[in-house]
Amino acid sequence: MEKRDAKDDVYEMLSQSGYSDKAIEYFKATENIGVLSDADLVSDLTGPCGDTMKISLDIEGGRIRDAKIQVLGCPGAVASGCAVVNLAKGKTLDEAGKIDVDILYEELEKLPDQKVHCARLAVKTLQKALEEYQNQKDKGTEAQGSER
Ligand code: FES
Repeated sequence: MEKRDAKDDVYEMLSQSGYSDKAIEYFKATENIGVLSDADLVSDLTGPCGDTMKISLDIEGGRIRDAKIQVLGCPGAVASGCAVVNLAKGKTLDEAGKIDVDILYEELEKLPDQKVHCARLAVKTLQKALEEYQNQKDKGTEAQGSER
């Protein structure tokens, strides 16, 4: 009897559900998954569906040097999280702040219609992290200012 490849099964299921090949690649690749040990900022966000994303950013000279994401959620969340991290890497904080659902969706090419909120959660997680980093930096500047 011919052995079935579980990976092909997953591909077929996702493809039939409406995921593009590119979104499936993001879902299957592991390079963007995890938490950076030397992160400058780690932030997480839970969506209304209950899925959670944790993003970690390594920022140097106002630029995102590296980023990773940990996802407790559906394939749409994993693909979106990995794609948003991939888009953010190498960008300045301002450029990363401009990543929106349309840009992410362009990168993913296609998700099933009912999975658009997964892309939204990935974008919101990144934006929350960027805001927190900015607040952290502002506080640092304030503290330095008050020491004088
Ligand atoms: Fe919740 Fe996909 S179902 S992020």
